[in-house]
Amino acid sequence: MNSIPVRAYENQVKEGLFARARNVFWLAPMAGITDVCFRQLMDEMNAGVLISELVSAKGLFYNSEKTRKMMRVHPNGKSITGIQLFGESAEDIIQASELVEATGADFVDINLGCPVKKVVKKGCGAALLRDPAYLETFLSTIKRGIRIPLTVKMRTGWNEEELTIHECVQAAYNSGCEWVAIHGRTRAQGYEGKADWNLIAEVKANAKIPVIGNGDIRNAGQARKRLAESKVDAVMIGRGALRNPGIFNECIGSKTETSCLDIIRRYQKSLQEFYDTRYALIMLRKFSAWLAFGNPGAAKFRKSMFECLTSAEVMEKVEAFFQNEKPLPFNDNEEFMMGGHG
Ligand SMILES: Cc1cc2nc3c(=O)[nH]c(=O)nc-3n(C[C@H](O)[C@H](O)[C@H](O)COP(=O)(O)O)c2cc1C
Repeated sequence: MNSIPVRAYENQVKEGLFARARNVFWLAPMAGITDVCFRQLMDEMNAGVLISELVSAKGLFYNSEKTRKMMRVHPNGKSITGIQLFGESAEDIIQASELVEATGADFVDINLGCPVKKVVKKGCGAALLRDPAYLETFLSTIKRGIRIPLTVKMRTGWNEEELTIHECVQAAYNSGCEWVAIHGRTRAQGYEGKADWNLIAEVKANAKIPVIGNGDIRNAGQARKRLAESKVDAVMIGRGALRNPGIFNECIGSKTETSCLDIIRRYQKSLQEFYDTRYALIMLRKFSAWLAFGNPGAAKFRKSMFECLTSAEVMEKVEAFFQNEKPLPFNDNEEFMMGGHG
């Protein structure tokens, strides 16, 4: 798998926002995970593009403090950053985009993939895929109302009977979006089954807009294989980056240090920069427990994490547990985080 060459970047789209991507291996948005600290870490690990967790456009006005924190962007980033919004009203998204712009983010990404009931009930997330004509009006209104570039992330449709992906990609193109990221599952699938890369390739072959493929990429070899075989313009990696935060370095063949210890130390430094002591501790415990997944003694280690009362205690246990090893392989049939907002 590793022998498949990364397509030369010169062959990629040369215009618009896409041309500013650092490489063709991107971080997928993940709620509760791709906050400012995780994005900063992924920037250091050479992810091509960074996207925040989904942020409620309405929440920005009702629960401003907490929601605005979700949109923070680390300074001096090398990779471009998008803030992902969701909402049922184009006007709310236009207003929220003003705040996105003020964070220094490079673009606004609209979530058209969230399968969660609370979100689709309001006509947001994946519900917008059910009516491509309305989707075009919705996205065109947003596009006209904002100054920064607009992108979208979607699923392949509502269910097997409503595979609207071709029409929705056309709607995104007609509205002036910069690219479409496709998680190759329907809303009905949730996280079950496999992402449909044949369909992603078919959409790419017909699309007039850059297509980013997403779903079930668990290691660098698979990322390169999907890129080469489906001919998408870039790939997006979610859970694979959580299990192995060094995955983007491996994708581009960089020799940057990616031991678990080094990764956790970097992450802790970032947590100290952006959060208070209590929240930094919560995030550090969670992250260390994720990285331990699959290691012998992981269950005991995870339990011990939640008994730690300070970050220093966590780090002591981390140093003893990981002893410099690389993250373990993330196997194809392993179930890991089978739920999320896209
Ligand atoms: C915990 C979790 C949270 C997620 N949150 C979001 C989100 O906020 N916005 C979004 O568009 N997708 C979200 N997703 C979906 C991912 O971006 C991605 O499409 C999906 O996980 C498939 O890619 P993967 O197999 O590489 O993880 C989430 C997924 C997970 C596992």
